[in-house]
Amino acid sequence: MRTVLYPGSFDPVTAGHMDIISRAAARFERVIIGVLRNPEKTTDAFSPAERLSLLRKAAAPYPNVEAAVFEGLLARAAEACGADGVLRGLRTAGDVESEFMMARLNRQMAGVETVFLAASPAVSHISASMVRQIGRLGGDLRGLVPENLLEEISDALAQRDWNGYR
Ligand code: PNS
Repeated sequence: MRTVLYPGSFDPVTAGHMDIISRAAARFERVIIGVLRNPEKTTDAFSPAERLSLLRKAAAPYPNVEAAVFEGLLARAAEACGADGVLRGLRTAGDVESEFMMARLNRQMAGVETVFLAASPAVSHISASMVRQIGRLGGDLRGLVPENLLEEISDALAQRDWNGYR
C-alpha cells in the first residue's frame, strides 16, 4: 500500500491525529488527509475550510502529506483520490468494534481495504470532542493540539458559541 487516505472529522486536528500522521508519513509514500463528515455528528466547531487550513499548517513539515475536503461516502473519496487504502488510528479497545464495522462496510461496498495504526499511549486519551469542550470552557490545550496551532485553536474555541460555527 503506497498511498493512503487518512479520513476523519478533524474538528479540530489534535495531537492524537498528529501521532498517526507523523508515523504514516514515515511509512507510506503519500498520505492524503481527508476531511469528511460524520452525518451523525452535529456538534461542529470548525467549518470544513477551517479544519483543512489547520490540517495543512499542522502537516506542513511532511512533504508527502496533503489534505483535502471530501463530500459524501468515504469509500467513494478513497476511489476518487486514487488511494490504495484507508488508514485509521485505534486509540482504545473501545474503538475497535465500530472501526472494524466501518472497515468491513467499506470493503463490501467498494473493495476498499482499511489499515490501522495503534495510537501511541502518550496520546491515546485525546479526542477532538474533549479538545472542543476544554477549549470552549477556556481550559489549557497545551499538549492536546499541535504546538504551532495552540493559540489559533484555543482562541477560536474560546470565542465559539455552542451552536454553529461562530
Ligand atoms: O474522526 P471521525 O469522526 O471518527 O471520522 C469518521 C469519518 C468521517 C471517517 C466517518 O464518519 C466517515 O467515513 N464519514 C463519511 C460517510 C461514510 O462513508 N459513512 C459510512 C462509513 S462505513
